[in-house]
Amino acid sequence: MPETQSQGTPTLFSPYKMGKFNLSHRVVLAPMTRCRALNGIPRPALAEYYTQRSTPGGSLITEGTLVSDTAAGFPHVPGIYNDQQVEAWKKIVDAVHAKGSIIFCQLWHVGRASHSRNFHHPMHFPFLSPFIEIFYLLILTNEIVYQPGGAAPISSTSKPLSNRWRILMPDGSYGIYPKPRALQISEIPEVVQHYRTAALNAIRAGFDGIEIHGAHGYLIDQFLKDGINDRRDEYGGSLANRCKFLMQIVGSVAEAVGADRIAVRISPAIDHLDATDSNPLNLGLAVIERLNELQLKLGSKLAYLHVTQPRYHAYGQTESGRHGSEDEEAHLMRTLKRSYEGTFMCSGGFTRELGMQAVAEGDADLVSYGRLFISNPDLVFRLRINAPLNRYIRKTFYTQDPVVGYTDYPFLVVQSRL
Ligand SMILES: Cc1cc2nc3c(=O)[nH]c(=O)nc-3n(C[C@H](O)[C@H](O)[C@H](O)COP(=O)(O)O)c2cc1C
Repeated sequence: MPETQSQGTPTLFSPYKMGKFNLSHRVVLAPMTRCRALNGIPRPALAEYYTQRSTPGGSLITEGTLVSDTAAGFPHVPGIYNDQQVEAWKKIVDAVHAKGSIIFCQLWHVGRASHSRNFHHPMHFPFLSPFIEIFYLLILTNEIVYQPGGAAPISSTSKPLSNRWRILMPDGSYGIYPKPRALQISEIPEVVQHYRTAALNAIRAGFDGIEIHGAHGYLIDQFLKDGINDRRDEYGGSLANRCKFLMQIVGSVAEAVGADRIAVRISPAIDHLDATDSNPLNLGLAVIERLNELQLKLGSKLAYLHVTQPRYHAYGQTESGRHGSEDEEAHLMRTLKRSYEGTFMCSGGFTRELGMQAVAEGDADLVSYGRLFISNPDLVFRLRINAPLNRYIRKTFYTQDPVVGYTDYPFLVVQSRL
């Protein structure tokens, strides 16, 4: 019997109603930074990439997309804060819609995971006078990157990331994360406003909704996690205080574009970029309690809650490694799923088998696939027929070539593109 017709027990290929969206299957393209939007403007290569991964009734999430000019921490990441970016995104969204998928725009601010200046390793020019050489070293090699005016990145804290992490610079080198500047309370409303404007821009570009990136050690997670947030004001300390920044953003964006068009991503148990918490389960539950309350208050559910599960650790530096035992991870995810009153999407290390299992056992409504979707543009088709998968090539994850490692992974058969 084809899996789409399974009786009772849902599979990855059972239809799903996500609020007002009727999905024909549960395999979602996970948000993934791919560094192909030169100078922040999405270009035609992105339309090709996203349409390759579109299916009738499918669902895509864009790469992290910058909410403001202080939000970047990777080279050539698209933005959604000015008209030129909105116009460029329109073409991509239209192309995806023409293939029958919906597409959510992931709103991103990296916070302290950014950089302000790129000190190249300068060459020595013995033929220059010492004075000119010093000028060269100070001015010409001191290129401003990511932050306007070379300002310090913003965060909940003024603690820099530990030496365990390195930042990818525009020239392909890796730098040390600089000391950030802790946001003052009076500055927070402006940052919230950036998310709101970006969400409105995304809807203007035709996106079906937006996903607020509250995961993986970036700005919102820097407020959520007690391993980073060392504030003594109303945004630090208690769980209620640490959740406040996220909830102000969610509230403001929901008011602007409607709760059913917004989604939230969190990763309470992921320590990417030093984002540790002393009690990940309680943190996850605290966010969920507040999202449930907001949904009740607004009389509308969010589109979905997207949770990266600890197995995601495998995505970072290595291909293996776990935070807790398999049972601990399953308990955490299951408890969060059972507590959230709405659509629950999981991500992180899912194979076909694990995805099938999660959906069948009620641990996930939807499953987002990352790396396997990079190397298999027709992943939905391949998973459906249980076909072999292309292997992904890590070294082209973040390069700028519009084709190589981006849109040149082979389809199984030509028909699967239809
Ligand atoms: C190249 C790459 C870029 C990523 N960029 C983002 C991103 O922009 N936003 C985000 O929330 N997660 C990002 N992730 C995490 C993925 O969404 C996903 O959760 C992760 O890859 C684990 O899923 P997988 O095991 O199916 O790859 C990225 C992952 C990869 C491999």
